[in-house]
Amino acid sequence: MAKSRSQYVCQECGASSPQYFGKCPACHAWNTLVEQVVEPITSTTDGARLVNQRSSKKRRAPAPPQAVSALTLAQIADNPTQRFSSGYLELDRVLGGGIVPGSLVLIGGDPGIGKSTLLLQIVNQLSQRQCVLYVCAEESGQQVKLRAQRLGVQPAGVLNHDSSGAGESAAENPDLYLLPETDLETILQELDSLKPQVAVIDSIQALYFSSLTSSPGSVAQVRECTSALMRLAKQENIMLFIVGHVTKEGAIAGPKVLEHLVDTVLYFEGERFANHRLLRSVKNRFGATHELGVFEMMDRGLREVPNPSELFLGDRDEVAPGTATIVACEGTRPIVVELQALVSPTSYSSPRRSTTGLEYNRLLQILAVLEKRLGIPLSKLDAYVASSGGLNVAEPAADLGVAIAVAASFRDRLVDPLTVIIGEVGLGGQVRSVSQMELRLKEALKLGFKKAIVPKGQSFPDLDIEIIPVSRVADAIVAALKSGSQVEQKS
Ligand code: TYD
Ligand code: MG
Repeated sequence: MAKSRSQYVCQECGASSPQYFGKCPACHAWNTLVEQVVEPITSTTDGARLVNQRSSKKRRAPAPPQAVSALTLAQIADNPTQRFSSGYLELDRVLGGGIVPGSLVLIGGDPGIGKSTLLLQIVNQLSQRQCVLYVCAEESGQQVKLRAQRLGVQPAGVLNHDSSGAGESAAENPDLYLLPETDLETILQELDSLKPQVAVIDSIQALYFSSLTSSPGSVAQVRECTSALMRLAKQENIMLFIVGHVTKEGAIAGPKVLEHLVDTVLYFEGERFANHRLLRSVKNRFGATHELGVFEMMDRGLREVPNPSELFLGDRDEVAPGTATIVACEGTRPIVVELQALVSPTSYSSPRRSTTGLEYNRLLQILAVLEKRLGIPLSKLDAYVASSGGLNVAEPAADLGVAIAVAASFRDRLVDPLTVIIGEVGLGGQVRSVSQMELRLKEALKLGFKKAIVPKGQSFPDLDIEIIPVSRVADAIVAALKSGSQVEQKS
């Protein structure tokens, strides 16, 4: 087959050159040239093939453009999508209520966080009802099989083009196929001939398209491989899960265009030394974003956590001064989280501030409000704030909880362990209202909380929980510390 031609295109100005330059000859920007194939990869009906149309001698004249006219929404035929369950409710919720056939889902995450484990478990569930192809580009068939056995998954067999052993082993899941392959062309052919309903590419950074000289994982390779896979998947209505690695900066490695190409982008994250793993949606064409699925890594794979609040709520019997409980909301999911603050005299010229699971700049802002409006001399104190389990709480509704935890630590007082604190703190020291109050209060009630300190003026449902409305941070601190008790001074 004739090789397709590639060229280097500047990502800033669009200028192209046949050769790589560190600096764009046209706009003089540095490191902006990325390799691209001149002709797009197309698949033919007799197996997916990469065809370079430009290299063929006979070139057909382009077909005349078809007349297309604009339609109103009502004129467009309904196409009700029949979602199907992945077998994991946590994943279904993050996807917006199940898997959409023919959709493209990108799953990003740090190495070793459990992406392959999660997908192997998902395909195990799916292959009970559908034909599934798992392309394990990073691991050998034996490695995946070993892991599958540990997880209790029995793949049908390893599709291996070097041997005739395809699909040989007896299997409990006759429709789960493994393909240990990194060559894009072979993968496209296999997808085209097997025509699975669901396919997994683990991972996109390991795939290699031979017409490009760039190495696997480079921007050019990742982009070309994803678009070729996407074209075939849309044409054959194959639902694709694509695994993508995350760079040091936290974005999915490869161009941002990867995230634009796919329908849904999920991030799988967690602390390496904690067992919980969070599946977050950051983009979803078929549902709400910022949904959260919670899993726990066990010795035999991932387990769903249907009630995550219990995971992030510390030991209720051993509440220390400086501990406050908030209700964070991730998408439509409320999670009760314990915050801990520690303030102590500093031995540095500028005091130390540190956050775990909370936004650093928000802490600085809250400390400034406490100092200015309440006169707490925090500029002479170190301040450390952490959420239990290291859960990332980025939303402003946690502000009031942070303020109360810091004030409680400063005064060495306890906050009543059965009180939750919900509210945003303004720069003037006022408490601002937050969204989804009803969901938050219901979750607190479900977990046995008796009181809630909330912003004044917000409407609340009639629930069996004592509401303490506050309009200023100072009032909230008085209310929170009054319901707690003085810590006995240890002699
Ligand atoms: P893996 O799925 O290989 O991560 P990724 O594909 O994101 O790189 O997960 C590997 C980690 O998960 C590894 O450090 C061990 C751990 N693990 C368990 O704790 N229990 C298990 O049952 C499995 C399969 C893995
Ligand atoms: Mg992996």
